[in-house]
Amino acid sequence: MKPIIKVRELNKTYSREKYNISIERFKNNKEESKTHALKGINMDVLDGEFLVIMGPSGAGKSTLLNMISTIDKDTKGSVKILGEDISRLNEIDISKFRYEKLGFIFQKFNVLNNLTVKENIILPLALKNDSIENILERINSISERLEIKELLEKYPNECSGGQIQKIAVARALINNPKIIVADEPTGNLDSRNSHNLLEFLKILNEVEKKTVIMVTHDPMIASYGRRVLYLKDGIIEKEVLRKDLSQKEYFYNILDTVSKESLDLFNK
Ligand SMILES: Nc1ncnc2c1ncn2[C@@H]1O[C@H](COP(=O)(O)OP(=O)(O)O)[C@@H](O)[C@H]1O
Ligand SMILES: [Mg+2]
Repeated sequence: MKPIIKVRELNKTYSREKYNISIERFKNNKEESKTHALKGINMDVLDGEFLVIMGPSGAGKSTLLNMISTIDKDTKGSVKILGEDISRLNEIDISKFRYEKLGFIFQKFNVLNNLTVKENIILPLALKNDSIENILERINSISERLEIKELLEKYPNECSGGQIQKIAVARALINNPKIIVADEPTGNLDSRNSHNLLEFLKILNEVEKKTVIMVTHDPMIASYGRRVLYLKDGIIEKEVLRKDLSQKEYFYNILDTVSKESLDLFNK
């Protein structure tokens, strides 16, 4: 498999504004108001792989995902997607790029309650001058696959949590993206709905050869992927590969890594 995303020496520093009355004090505290969320990340994402990013809360998982997804900009370093250095693109090109190549699934479903399910799903297409026939055809095939056809004319607040996540998945797929990015996509789902969503992502990856990058802190959820990068304090600490292990064996390997890392936190 070839790299589809190349991340090199990626750094992200968030600067928090501090309300210091004294300017002198502000100067002295300048360092304190900064969070180094990512500290020199180097990684490749391979075309067609199912990559999982794990790590404790605050490790920088969402920050990394947002930078890979072009939602956020780096402080230092580079992200190349399909050979394109995204920091060199202007806002319009970035939106176009995001629209054409990426599909996002978030933990918070981000559906708009005053739009119908159907309108929510086709929202990304509104950005593009697509023909009505095309739009209808895509919404038909996707809602059939996800079994949400009967929900299309309803409003999100008439749907269950599991159904709303399917709507969010449909929206992520409506533009047929090459790369699917998911940040804790099962965070608000029960175990049956989580399993269904993961099975669906697995099919997209294995059958349709989509590249999937998913953040989770749950070893069970992570075991659906093929490779785990374990992030801690903005650094990649470990890599766990599935290779030819069964999902159950892989799950135990991930669990082992996560518990060792957690024990280290105790010993600090
Ligand atoms: N917008 C922001 N402004 C300031 N600090 C932030 C912001 N987003 C994240 N951080 C900080 O960066 C670090 C990494 O956050 P995040 O990437 O959200 O971690 P994770 O997703 O692994 O829980 C944390 O210390 C967090 O408090
Ligand atoms: Mg997060």
